[in-house]
Amino acid sequence: TKILFAASECVPFIKTGGLADVIGSLPQALMKDNLADVRVILPLYDEIPLEWQNKMEKKTSFKVEVGWRTHEAILYTLENDGILYYFIKNDFYFSRRGVYGYYDDGERFVFFSQAIIEGLPLLDFDADVLHAHDWQTGLAVAFANIYLPASRLKTVFTIHNIKYQGLLSHDSFDNLFNLSREHFNGLEWNGMLNCMKAAIFHADKITTVSPTYAEEIRQPYYSEGLDSILHEREGDLSGVINGINLEDYHPMKDPYIHVNYKSSRVKKKENKEALQAELGLPVNGDIPMYIAISRLVEQKGFHLLERVLDEFLQEDIQVVILGTGDYEFEHSFSHIAIRNSTKMHMLLQFNEGQARKLYASADFFLMPSKFEPCGLSQLIALQYKTVPIVRETGGLKDTVQAFNAETGEGNGFSFANYNAHELLSILRYSLDVFHDSSLWKKLMKNVNKSSFSWSESAKAYTNIYKSLTTLEDRE
Ligand code: GLC
Repeated sequence: TKILFAASECVPFIKTGGLADVIGSLPQALMKDNLADVRVILPLYDEIPLEWQNKMEKKTSFKVEVGWRTHEAILYTLENDGILYYFIKNDFYFSRRGVYGYYDDGERFVFFSQAIIEGLPLLDFDADVLHAHDWQTGLAVAFANIYLPASRLKTVFTIHNIKYQGLLSHDSFDNLFNLSREHFNGLEWNGMLNCMKAAIFHADKITTVSPTYAEEIRQPYYSEGLDSILHEREGDLSGVINGINLEDYHPMKDPYIHVNYKSSRVKKKENKEALQAELGLPVNGDIPMYIAISRLVEQKGFHLLERVLDEFLQEDIQVVILGTGDYEFEHSFSHIAIRNSTKMHMLLQFNEGQARKLYASADFFLMPSKFEPCGLSQLIALQYKTVPIVRETGGLKDTVQAFNAETGEGNGFSFANYNAHELLSILRYSLDVFHDSSLWKKLMKNVNKSSFSWSESAKAYTNIYKSLTTLEDRE
């Protein structure tokens, strides 16, 4: 089966979040096991490093209508790591700094989605399935259904985060689309046009990135207003857990970290001491180190951490936080670090190399998310033998099993309610286990066995594609 992935970001070209990691690794997994023939279509942002842009090859150009305006789309291709990528260039929409955050983001992705559909015949790739990801490409699913009703092209839409839906005012229906009125309802939601809703309404199959999140988004607490439409599509909704590229996140080979692990030995202390020296923290490989590596946003549970961190820092521990994000959190965590400067370090940056050093050095990884569709960093942490401490939500619940001192089962620590003192008590418990060498050994044994490659999930996607392409016609 031939699958065309459509998305707004992809490693190694352009990344703002976990979506880019998935688009940069799932196609390879599908190709590698001969599960599907996958190509990927992306916008050609100015922000993509020139080293990549210089390797792209211009194929052709075509016209794309956005309401009453006609824009030019230039199609480029690039082969990398066994995958053929298509890029759509349009300077008006994509020759800007950064990726998102413009007043006309909605219109930019109306254009991109329209360009995907208009460009299909020019790709030299007769796709069986269009697999679109998140709201930015949701309209491509709607357009496929509306413009190509007789075609054999099927659609899959994956929700990576339901919080971001792509809203447009309802009068953009007349300004940005060339659709007849009968299609208004499929795009409209609560008085706005909603790209994510449009995709949920039109897609043949809907997936999200963990089984638990697939359940959660049917509840108002998690659905960001979309539970009723998801209920209507329940029969076509499923959850497939993300994997990570284990060749990339490999502590025995990772070029960024101070000391590579050996098959028989995890080099935690060596890495920790080198990091402590670098950050100006007291150098002592025996002090338990807790880290967070994240965008500093509410989703990731920083409100909880903010409340109890000062108190937890009374213990003999070290804390390092790496990331940027909302001013509120940048400010409060910098202050906590200043107040506790012999125990905590705040790195207000995002830097892949630093991130890897932290994973390799720390004993615990903090991720008390308010909600988490899948979460990739807890999977990376496990790969580096760093014990995740998570809230039981979404993909965190599906990948981290709470350590049970009685049975010796579990690969991390978790708590159920979005409550700062539940977090604090689990933090204290993690410290007790750390200091009890027999319990710690049991926990480490389970951590060693936890590994989340793409192979099972890639098969699950193939089954979804197959279930569609063996259907005779779309109804
Ligand atoms: C989004 C979600 C995250 C998920 C990622 C990839 O960033 O917030 O939980 O892991 O998408 O699917």
